[in-house]
Amino acid sequence: MHDGHNRQINYLRVSVTDLCNFRCVYCMPEQGVKLLKHDEILSYEEFLRVISIVGQQGVSRVRLTGGEPLVRRGIVEFIRNIAGLKLITDLSMTTNGSLLAGMAVQLKEAGLTRVNISLDTINPKQFCSITRGGNLNDTLQGIEAALQAGLTPVKLNVVLTNIVTEQDIAYFVDLVHREPVSVRFIEYMPIGENQVGRGPSIDEIKTTINSFGRGSLKPTLDIRGNGPAKYFYLPQAKGSFGFITPISEHFCSVCNRIRLTADGKFKPCLLSNQEIDIKAALRSGATDDEIARLFYNTIAEKPQGHTLASSDSQTTFFRKMSQIGG
Ligand code: GTP
Ligand code: 5AD
Ligand code: SF4
Repeated sequence: MHDGHNRQINYLRVSVTDLCNFRCVYCMPEQGVKLLKHDEILSYEEFLRVISIVGQQGVSRVRLTGGEPLVRRGIVEFIRNIAGLKLITDLSMTTNGSLLAGMAVQLKEAGLTRVNISLDTINPKQFCSITRGGNLNDTLQGIEAALQAGLTPVKLNVVLTNIVTEQDIAYFVDLVHREPVSVRFIEYMPIGENQVGRGPSIDEIKTTINSFGRGSLKPTLDIRGNGPAKYFYLPQAKGSFGFITPISEHFCSVCNRIRLTADGKFKPCLLSNQEIDIKAALRSGATDDEIARLFYNTIAEKPQGHTLASSDSQTTFFRKMSQIGG
C-alpha cells in the first residue's frame, strides 16, 4: 500500500491509552490530560478488529504506545491476540519501563517482539524531575528484565533536553559496550509542552561519544527497526547508538506509518492535526470494507512533510504528545 508520495505504508502505531504513571515535562502538562470516559476509549476488541483489517491492507508492523501502554489492564491478553494475527510479523511497544520488571516475561510469552524504553538521564534526581515523580531504579530494572526476557533488540529513547549531561553520555557509552542495547538520542519536538530547555545537538552528542577514547562512531544498517533512527556502532561494543532528527533532518520522505489513537482516530501524521474518526464507524455497524476505506482515506491525507522547523510554522497542536503516543 503506497500513498500519493510513493511511500509504502506498512506500520501502525496504536496508542492503547492516553494515561501514564509519569508526567514527562515534554510530553504532558503537570496536571495530566483530561480523563476520557471509559466508552470514549476503543475496546481491545475494536483495536483488534482494526489491526486485523489494516493487516489485510499491507500493515505488518504494529507498535503499542500510550501514554504508558502497560498501565492499561488486559494488555498481555491483547498482545496475545495481536500476535495470533499471522499478517502481523513485528509487534513492539514503546514504554517508560517502570512496570516492565514485573511483566517482561509474560509480555514475551504472549508474543511481544521487542521494546523501546524511555530513559532521558541516569541521574535519579533529574529523572524524577523530568518524569515528575518517576523512580529511576524501576526503569533500570525494567530495562534489565527486557534484556533477560529477550524482548530484543532493546532500544532506549533519550529526548535531548538540557538535563542531559556528559555523565549521562559516559554511562550510555559504557552501557553500549556491556549490553546489546541501542541508545537513541532524539531531538525534542515542541508540540504542546514547551517547558524544556534545549539540550545538546546531535553533533555535540556524537563529538562527546567520540571523546571517551573508545573509538569513533561508524554508521551501520544492521539494526532492526521500522523507524526514523540512523544507527552507529563503536568498535567492540555489544550495542549501538541511534539518532532521531525530526527537526534538523526530518525523515518525512520515508515515513511508513499511520497512528490510531486511544479514542479511535486515525492520524496520518504525528505533526499535523488531521484526524479521521473511526470509532463512530466501528460502533455503527460499518463493514470491514468500510473500515478499510477509512484507512485508505487516512493514507491519502498523509502530508508530504511537516513544517515544525520552519521559522513561520504557526501550527497549534490540539493533542499533547501523550495523547498520540510519540
Ligand atoms: P523502531 O524503529 O521500530 O524501533 O521504532 P521507532 O523509533 O519508530 O519508535 P519509538 O516509539 O521508539 O519512537 C522514537 C522517537 O521517534 C519518538 O520520539 C517518536 O516521537 C519519534 N517518532 C516516531 N515516529 C515519528 C514520526 O512519524 N515523525 C516524527 N517526527 N517523529 C516520530
Ligand atoms: N519530542 C521528542 N520525543 C518525545 N517523546 C515524547 N514527547 C516527545 C517530544 N516532545 C518520546 C518519548 C517516548 C516516545 C514515544 O516519544 O520519550 O520514548
Ligand atoms: Fe508518559 Fe512516555 Fe509521555 Fe513520559 S513520554 S509522560 S513516560 S507517555
